[in-house]
Amino acid sequence: MIQTLTQVSTIQELRSLIREARQAGKRIGFVPTMGYLHEGHASLVKQARLTCDLVVMSIFVNPLQFGPNEDFSRYPRDIVRDREIARSAGVDLLFTPSVEEMYPTEVLTKVSVAKVSEPLCGKSRPGHFDGVATVVMKLFQIVQPDDAFFGQKDAQQVAVIQQMVRDLSVPVNIVVCPIVREADGLAMSSRNVYLREEEREQATILYRTLQHVQERLKSCPAVETLKDEMVRMIQSQPLAEIDYAEILHYPELTPVTELKPGDRIIAALAVRFGKTRLIDNLIAEI
Ligand code: PAF
Repeated sequence: MIQTLTQVSTIQELRSLIREARQAGKRIGFVPTMGYLHEGHASLVKQARLTCDLVVMSIFVNPLQFGPNEDFSRYPRDIVRDREIARSAGVDLLFTPSVEEMYPTEVLTKVSVAKVSEPLCGKSRPGHFDGVATVVMKLFQIVQPDDAFFGQKDAQQVAVIQQMVRDLSVPVNIVVCPIVREADGLAMSSRNVYLREEEREQATILYRTLQHVQERLKSCPAVETLKDEMVRMIQSQPLAEIDYAEILHYPELTPVTELKPGDRIIAALAVRFGKTRLIDNLIAEI
């Protein structure tokens, strides 16, 4: 039985510990991450602890999901700090494979989810969601969890993974957990550490814009008007550069022409501050 945090770096060791747990009748919860953990990740672990007997977390900065000009090599990493956060949040088993362990040879098999991968981040980060779907599918094969926990902050990622699980009949229950925010509303993200002081101050515009949308949705304005308002609010911050400010059906991620009662929509933002690209969203029932 695993009492404290155990860290393993090979697929073989992980599989053998999970096999033991499963033979003992344990329910396996899985929290996949890229590390540099924060309270958002801790909230996923706490949720997993409520329903699972063994909580497994992976920390793996997955090269497949970074474009050639993205931040793979400078993505923040601190395994000593992460181990402590994971342990105190309630992780039993921490899986920290190397790139060579995960991809010992050139990867010729990819998982690609059409349509939901295409708008929003799919436009500005071509290939990103193929990289995510491929690594998540591989991690699901390795861990074979009963439940897997993802944050709503990456709402498009959630839509892609849910579609993949449905299409490929992957026997896992996907649990989506609410966005965790700093006191001033900025969504927690490992990338927040990149922000300079002035950028960090202006970055609260994402949350303020989503709060505005939430308020305005009560009177069902025209979608184009609402999108213009989102753009204008973000542009009020001189350091903000909009990648997208969109309203789409969720989880289909198809265009919304008119807001109708019963619709489930996402207001989604991606905004750059200097070299840092932040995302945030609001999912609402009309
Ligand atoms: O959300 C993340 O941290 C990553 O995209 C994930 C799901 C761990 C896959 O690398």
